[in-house]
Amino acid sequence: MSDLSQQRIQEVLDGLDTGSIGAETHFFGTIGSTNDEARRLAESGAPEGTIVVADEQKAGRGRFDRVWEAPRGSSILLSVIFRPTLPPDRVQRLVMACGLAVIEACEALATVRVDIKWPNDLQIGGKKLCGILPESALIGSHFEWVVVGMGINVTRQFEPPDPLAATATSLQMETGRPVDRGLLLGEIMRRIDLWHNQLEEQALLQAWIDRCVTLGRRVQTGSGDSVIKGVAEAIDETGALLLRDSTGELWRVAAGEATLLEGR
Ligand code: BTN
Repeated sequence: MSDLSQQRIQEVLDGLDTGSIGAETHFFGTIGSTNDEARRLAESGAPEGTIVVADEQKAGRGRFDRVWEAPRGSSILLSVIFRPTLPPDRVQRLVMACGLAVIEACEALATVRVDIKWPNDLQIGGKKLCGILPESALIGSHFEWVVVGMGINVTRQFEPPDPLAATATSLQMETGRPVDRGLLLGEIMRRIDLWHNQLEEQALLQAWIDRCVTLGRRVQTGSGDSVIKGVAEAIDETGALLLRDSTGELWRVAAGEATLLEGR
């Protein structure tokens, strides 16, 4: 049996306490995008903790409308539905909770060190292991739903001439050993539940900050006329990056990408 299927997920979940995460599980051999399916389910009333998992996506999406491509069976392609009661400016905490859960689960099952590059990239030794795509429906000042999509490179091999070979990695490439995707998925879900119960706690922010390799580095954010270069000084309560430029001015960057520059 494949290490990922509806039956395998059920088997793994039968032996684990994942709280509300996995309230409903929807597994697809092939799908367009797990985020699209999760959004559809959220719009039709699916409960908090509903997950959508696929072995392959035909229209996987990354941030900034990039394509997220992963060969069949190589990844965990997971989207989780949340129905947050958090103030809207704290919703990044959900993404932080999911990121920490993926990190801890990978470290526990594959014995590797995983870091965070602000805002949402999970890396091993500077190479991308996992991308996270949050999407939401805000009605007034209330989130109807938030979907957090995660693409984790488990067995995928990045070899030249693949253009991603210089910037991406997988658990198997790092450890030389296969990782059971069913067990890894279960552990991720268990840990999402644990962090989800601490969303408003300082412990969550601190754990995330402790992993963030962007802090203390010179970075560049924005594009065109709105490029900001500076030293990443802190992450605030909402998950925004605080950058000190060369004139001493402090900038708050709520979202976007941060390219790490040479020097401190
Ligand atoms: C990024 O650009 O870094 C975010 C990538 C997110 C990819 C995941 S794979 C599962 C989920 N479904 C999608 O279509 N995208 C996310």
